Amino acid sequence: MTGESRETFGSKMGFIFAAAGSAIGLGNIWRFPYLVGMYGGAAFLIVYLVMVAIIGIVCFVAEVSLGRHTRQSNVGAFKAIKPSWAPVGLIGIIAGFMILSFYGVVGGWSIYYFFKAIAGFPSADPGVCGDMFGSFVSHPVSPLIFTALFMIATIYIVYSGIQDGIEKYSNIMMPALFVIIVILAIRSVTLPGASAGLEFYLKPDFSKITGETLLAALGQVFFTLSLGMGSILTYGSYLSQDENIPSVCTTVPLMDTLIAFLAGLVIFPAVFAYGFEPTSGGGLVFITLPAVFSEMPAGILFGSAFFFLIFLAALTSAISLLEPVVAYMIEEHGWERRRATVIMGSIIFAVGIFASLSNGVLSGFKIGGMVLFDLLDYISGNWLLPISGLLTAIFVAWVWGSDNALQEATNDGTVEFAWGNLWANVLIKYVAPILIAIVFLSSIGLIKV
Ligand code: PFF
Repeated sequence: MTGESRETFGSKMGFIFAAAGSAIGLGNIWRFPYLVGMYGGAAFLIVYLVMVAIIGIVCFVAEVSLGRHTRQSNVGAFKAIKPSWAPVGLIGIIAGFMILSFYGVVGGWSIYYFFKAIAGFPSADPGVCGDMFGSFVSHPVSPLIFTALFMIATIYIVYSGIQDGIEKYSNIMMPALFVIIVILAIRSVTLPGASAGLEFYLKPDFSKITGETLLAALGQVFFTLSLGMGSILTYGSYLSQDENIPSVCTTVPLMDTLIAFLAGLVIFPAVFAYGFEPTSGGGLVFITLPAVFSEMPAGILFGSAFFFLIFLAALTSAISLLEPVVAYMIEEHGWERRRATVIMGSIIFAVGIFASLSNGVLSGFKIGGMVLFDLLDYISGNWLLPISGLLTAIFVAWVWGSDNALQEATNDGTVEFAWGNLWANVLIKYVAPILIAIVFLSSIGLIKV
């Protein structure tokens, strides 16, 4: 596809909603609150905010600028500047493929839980809710039906293209998500007994900050902002030439952070108000919260709104995971969009079938001690995203050149970028690559922080 005929987002808000849709996902609604709780409450929040500013937004500007400058998605963008770097783009494509194959499974769970919430969760006993969750995810057929529904929705939107698909649906889903989360947060913080949860969530304890806190915060910044796999780069390639990159690249991470923060306000006050423990990860959302909703007045309403929220958040992220894979097939292999979407979406779903089954009938089949579901998560999150994020930062700063990137980011100097020089000379050149390298090396155990 040539630069001339390439589709672009129809408006600035279209890009912002699509990119925010990519960023805001399961990472915000269950992972962020759980990390906050585990790593020192408000103290973690402050560390996280600093990292969003000095690394998240920095890499965000780099990806969007590279995408818009080259008007190519992941592989093509690297190739356009230096062909020998094309494999870096491919790492991102592979990461997207792997993430979507298990993300789609969890997206399917959110649909099932939405229907369960409408029917009313059976018990306020987390043990019973835990059994319900365990027997659902390990079932050989039920979760596959919901994963299939989720993937069909994802494929349908990407199939419809940029303006008629991604932009149109993000414009509807993101405001809906925002309204739902605000209503849920108000409900949660006004529950009798909410204050214990607020204290747990918001009272800083700086003594809890350790090297691990920093690593967790940085890992979260990467995952939550969809960096390192070409989603943001590819969306940047559909951004029109006169848009203001510094402005959109600050708005999106701020929206992402706001939603993550609100998710904590929904979850912790409610969990504490009903006397539950803020257990970790998936258990918090799929086991503890159903128990909470079964006790809460109008729990059917709030519970179904909550799982609908997770579904919307997961869906807008899923389309941003499929789009770079599809764009790659279109640009590099000359496929037509519809064919690329249906075929690649179906292959990803097929891998997702095995990921889902690995929570049940295939749980005895392990590679490196992990079932397929966990393996896909581990390899993509701990290896591919940081490696590709690191190489992208190095590429933009040193191969393409941060001055050239700054020219793009400021529309040849016509757009205000208050900290543009800092970005080009310090942050993207040194701070971001060094910090990402530290996180990566420590997450694979090569160094200790
Ligand atoms: N940012 C998404 C979340 O927080 O759930 C997950 C994600 C989407 C990661 C797209 C990477 C990506 F490319």
